[in-house]
Amino acid sequence: MGNRFLVTTAIPDPGLKLLSDAGQVTVLPEPPDYPTLAGLCSSGDFDVVLTQLRDVIDAPLLARAQLRGVSNYAVGYNNIDVAAAARCGIQVGNTPGVLTDATADVAMLLILGTARRVVESDNLVRTGQFRGWEPELLLGRDVSGAVLGLAGFGRIARATARRALGFGMDVLFAPRPPGDRPVGEEELGEFAGKIRQAGWDELVERSDFLSLHVPLVEETRHLVDAHVLHRMKPGAILINTARGPIVNEADLVDALREGVIAGAGLDVFEDEPRLASGLAALPNTVLLPHVGSATVAVRREMARLCALNAVAMAEGRTLPHPVNLPAWS
Ligand code: GLV
Ligand code: GLV
Repeated sequence: MGNRFLVTTAIPDPGLKLLSDAGQVTVLPEPPDYPTLAGLCSSGDFDVVLTQLRDVIDAPLLARAQLRGVSNYAVGYNNIDVAAAARCGIQVGNTPGVLTDATADVAMLLILGTARRVVESDNLVRTGQFRGWEPELLLGRDVSGAVLGLAGFGRIARATARRALGFGMDVLFAPRPPGDRPVGEEELGEFAGKIRQAGWDELVERSDFLSLHVPLVEETRHLVDAHVLHRMKPGAILINTARGPIVNEADLVDALREGVIAGAGLDVFEDEPRLASGLAALPNTVLLPHVGSATVAVRREMARLCALNAVAMAEGRTLPHPVNLPAWS
């Protein structure tokens, strides 16, 4: 009997082609709810499931699952209990690397978009309120010379630093907030002498733009809450292209409303696709629907990696991008 793949949501070419070359593919007609997904995973009808961020793969589901692996169509995998998967001998794979530049582009877009009030500006033109050049129409903030604080120092943070330096920003980073770890010259690499490591407290207090590039784990859940927001500069802008729950979104709405900070550019939300009450009404925000990796080329590459991971799982080979290697060694 060949390999059997369950695809919870159709992925772009060449993903489905790679899967169908390697076995039998079932694509669900609509995203499954939790009981449906749990039932399918424990049915014994599938070897590998290809999941999306909205598919919750938790410990109870994994304990009953009859699967070799879970291949996530994302670099982040906070939707999967990786430790529980390891205990059950179920492999997990992700799609790192290919979406780094695209996501850093969106971080930069949000920095520029919030600084220069792009949503308000676009809206003014579209609604026929543009009456010609005015000395004080929609004045924003300068990006060049501003301090960009990067929370995290992974691939996407570095790619954002590269862009920010091109825009003349002064770049600080805290590698593992709220904790710390030393970053040596060698790890700094191309950034030696160009950007500077800071503690989390200094990053919070000095940043004109504070941009989040950490994974969602217990230590980073609500990393940015009312306490942190109140320590930021009143003119500061929060940028989040990582994961919504890293920010306490209700606290953020209060802070934006009360002028505790000046603005926010968000590509992710705490309870996607829902927004915290009042967020959508705030003019000092740029809100995007989780499109960090959404280019045609990147989504194709993600689909390819996701399918290659899945085929390797089904065939019992080493995955190109394993998340929990010990699970099956
Ligand atoms: C998207 O958020 C991803 O993790 O790939
Ligand atoms: C995750 O891919 C990161 O680059 O930080």
